[in-house]
Amino acid sequence: MSPQAKLQELTAELKQHNYDYYVLANPTISDREFDMKLKELEKLEQAFPQYTDPNSPTQQVGGGITKNFETVPHSTRMLSLGNTYNKEELLDFDKRVAKLNGGNAYQYTAELKFDGFAIALRYADGKLSRAITRGDGTQGDDVTANVKTIRSIPHQLRGNYPPNLEVRGEIFMHKAAFAKLNEERANKGEDLYKNPRNTAAGTIKLQDSAEVAKRPLDGFLYQLAEHGKEELDHWDSLQRMKEYGLPVNDATQLCDTIEDVWTFIEHWDTERKNLSFEIDGVVIKVNSRLQQQEMGFTSKFPRWAMSYKFETERAESKLLSISYQVGRTGAVTPVANLEPMQLLGTTVKRASLHNADFIAELDIRIGDRVFVEKGGEIIPKIVEVDASGRGPGSEPTQFTPTCPECETLLERPEGDAVYRCPNTQHCPPQVKGRIEHFIGRKAMDVASLGEGKIDVLYQSGLVRRVADLYSLQGEQLLGLSKSIINEDTGDERIVSFKEKTVENIVGGIQASKQIPFERVLFGLGIRFVGETVAKKLAFHFKNIDALIAADFETLNAVSEIGGVIAKSVIDYFSIPENREEIEQMKVAGLQFEVIEKELASNALDGAKIVVSGVFNRFSRNELKKLIEDNGGKNVSSISKSTDFIVAGDSMGPAKKEKAEKLGVRMITEDEFAEMLG
Ligand code: IVH
Repeated sequence: MSPQAKLQELTAELKQHNYDYYVLANPTISDREFDMKLKELEKLEQAFPQYTDPNSPTQQVGGGITKNFETVPHSTRMLSLGNTYNKEELLDFDKRVAKLNGGNAYQYTAELKFDGFAIALRYADGKLSRAITRGDGTQGDDVTANVKTIRSIPHQLRGNYPPNLEVRGEIFMHKAAFAKLNEERANKGEDLYKNPRNTAAGTIKLQDSAEVAKRPLDGFLYQLAEHGKEELDHWDSLQRMKEYGLPVNDATQLCDTIEDVWTFIEHWDTERKNLSFEIDGVVIKVNSRLQQQEMGFTSKFPRWAMSYKFETERAESKLLSISYQVGRTGAVTPVANLEPMQLLGTTVKRASLHNADFIAELDIRIGDRVFVEKGGEIIPKIVEVDASGRGPGSEPTQFTPTCPECETLLERPEGDAVYRCPNTQHCPPQVKGRIEHFIGRKAMDVASLGEGKIDVLYQSGLVRRVADLYSLQGEQLLGLSKSIINEDTGDERIVSFKEKTVENIVGGIQASKQIPFERVLFGLGIRFVGETVAKKLAFHFKNIDALIAADFETLNAVSEIGGVIAKSVIDYFSIPENREEIEQMKVAGLQFEVIEKELASNALDGAKIVVSGVFNRFSRNELKKLIEDNGGKNVSSISKSTDFIVAGDSMGPAKKEKAEKLGVRMITEDEFAEMLG
């Protein structure tokens, strides 16, 4: 088979798998097989870019950077819906509908109300041409590149679609994806996202679609907004959208009476806890398109549709005690221990109290009756305190003065909401947290050493600081074990070190010695030194000794390194134990120097270059690599200091205009290739 035929066959096959997986929810191959095929396609596309389908499944891993989203008018206004909160209000709506229809029969569709954000998708000749956020209802942001990373949204329609089509629906994040994202953030000591809806909405506005692709979004479409001349009743339009390969939720039901709608509502009010995504109610629509047109709109809402909002569930409990958790950075978080109660189908025993200010504001005291809500947020929240039942012994809560783990006196730096334990070197959760951070995926990536195992190593005394990992011997680990109890569920888990595990751990630690300096530096867990800052510092100072020797002014003079980071770096290296530990890791053979890449040439001599548009001869990544390999710098946005732009087809008009205005030269990929000889 010719490479072209193979490439086309794989493209079609992967599109079919995406459809099976995301639309039919009926995958026929494993994720692994899918990924392998995707990699194969990627390779073929790199070798034969001229045959690449612009809507290839490989596009869904993102890559385009959008600086400012273009504002685009909506074809018709994107409206919101009126709300009802109880059966009475729902029956009132039904009466209005009956009246407006002058005694004629009507039907409703009842649909889930997805808790995400609204989107309009336009398809031109079956190809996804634009995805626009609601914005102010009349115009929104063009987020096409980001929406293209959502695997359930087809880039190409199937079946007998009209040349111009617009559908509208909701984009959201699954509960599990949200929880995973937050778990990763917690591991890195970053602030947690509030709920899946805000996270999804924030994600679609990210400027780097590769970042968007890392945060799985999903969506359902619920409105056929433009469909050529053919007008369909709502139920039929949903079926038609399915035929076009668009994701439409299967729970939707055609109802003959408002009582049927009510049964649907009651069913989903209890069943929603078993869904993989959040819904905040049910949407009811008059089914007949003709009747919809006759009923029309108020100034804000359609008269033929209504949303029924579920109550955010609230439960009552009692504050039994407050415990305090210590994180990797020494921050102490108060946690409320509650009398166990049921909330949205799960048993809740704890709720976060955030910090000392939150406690003071609520004036929450041991023994108080409290109200807890789970309104979209995954972590239950205390929303109200009932002080009426307090006895004479009730006293205001005092934030713990000492660390619950090591009894060191806590400190609260001025202007900081958080109390911290200053015993960074010996406070167990801080030490364990640092080791966990060090072996994390983005640092040394020792996947065989999970959280439970670090705990065992710490308890056994074998590992009391990061550097100790590098003197571990396999024999010392064999046979170690510990039972770990999950405080929330009471489940017991045995962590044990069997032969294979030990082999993996020792191998993983050994392999980590090849991890480049910038990741080792990130792994040290210096406050405010995240991945990007670590890279900056590593490439600027080239080795750890120069970094340690740098004073405040030198650090602060590095571009993008501000005073807070500079101070934190100085503080870190001023602790003798930290420097000793680094010496120990150097002896063990870890990388503390940047390995300079051999350049293919220095033809570009530090030139700042923007790559924009679609190319035929090279992929964007190839161009970027060529730039770096020949001594140039990739920059993402056009400014005065940009030296030139390698411009491909369909470079955005806004970018072009900016380049022209600033007088930045644009060259083609062929001219660029010539430049490099
Ligand atoms: S229909 C004119 N159907 O809820 C009809 N909206 O509170 C407009 N939503 O703006 C919307 N699920 O963002 C419709 N099945 C569904 C929905 C739904 C979620 C959102 C949508 C809408 C908002 C109204």
